Amino acid sequence: MAETKNIYKATKFIQETTENFRPEIGMILGSGLGPVADAIKDPMYINYQDIPGFPVSTVEGHAGRLVLGNLNGKNVMVMQGRFHFYEGYPMPLIGFPVQVMKKLGVSKMIVTAASGAVTTDLQPGDLMVITDHINLTFRHPLMGQKLSISDELSSQTSKVYDPDLSNIALETGRKLGIEIKSGVYVMATGPSFETRAEVRMARLVGGDVVGMSTVPEATAAALMGIKVLGMTYVSNSGTGISQKQLSHHDVLDTMSRIQQRVVSLISETVGNL
Ligand code: HPA
Repeated sequence: MAETKNIYKATKFIQETTENFRPEIGMILGSGLGPVADAIKDPMYINYQDIPGFPVSTVEGHAGRLVLGNLNGKNVMVMQGRFHFYEGYPMPLIGFPVQVMKKLGVSKMIVTAASGAVTTDLQPGDLMVITDHINLTFRHPLMGQKLSISDELSSQTSKVYDPDLSNIALETGRKLGIEIKSGVYVMATGPSFETRAEVRMARLVGGDVVGMSTVPEATAAALMGIKVLGMTYVSNSGTGISQKQLSHHDVLDTMSRIQQRVVSLISETVGNL
C-alpha cells in the first residue's frame, strides 16, 4: 500500500534532489514515447530505484526514471517507464507516483499508452483522446487509503478525463494536421493480449480500444484533483478484429511509423495546456 509516510519521503527526496523544482504538468509516457522527454531543457534525471518508497519498473526497455525540467515553456515531471498491473504491482503502488506528483504541485497530467482497437472504426496508427474508461481489473489505485469521499471526489470519478484538456489536444492536432479520434479505453489485466471473445466483450460494453495501463494513474490523479488528459495510439487491431494474425513485428512497425507524429503532438500540446 502507498503509505502516506512513503509519499512524504519520496516527495522530500525529489524536492531536495531538484532544489525545489515545481512541476506543473505530470506526464506518463507509453512505450516508444521516450523522445518526448529528450526535448526537455536542462533536464534533471532521478532513477526510480534511488527514490525512497518508489516502485521499480521491471519491463525491459523502460528506463525507469523521472525527468524534470522545462518543455515548451512548462515545468514538467515525466515518468519514463511506468508500472503495470500485469507486472504484479498492487494497484495502490501504481497510483503512488501520481500521489507524489500531486504533493510536488502537479495540477495537470498527460497519460499516454499504446492500445489495440476493438472496432474497425480505428486502425493501427490512429490516435485517440480518451473520453472515459472501463476498468476490467475491478481494482482501484486508492484502495485502502483513508480518503474523505466528499461530493467533490465523487463528482470527479464521473469525469476522470478533463474535457477542456481534451479540446486543447484536439485543437493542437488540427493545427498540426494530425487527426485525433475520441473514445473509450478499456483496461484489461494482461500480460497477454485479449482473446477474441474478450475483444468482442470490450466492444459490447462500450469500448473503442483495449490496453493494460492508463486507468490506475488517471483514476488516482482525477481523485486527487489533478486534471487528466488521456491519449492513446493504436498499435494494432484487437484479436479477431482483423483477419491478420497479430504479430509483434507489425506492432513495432506501426509504432515506428507513428512515433514522430505522437511525439510532436504531445510536446506541442504541453505548451498549450
Ligand atoms: N491489447 C492490450 N494492450 C495493448 C494492445 C492490445 O491489443 N495493443 C497495445 N497494448
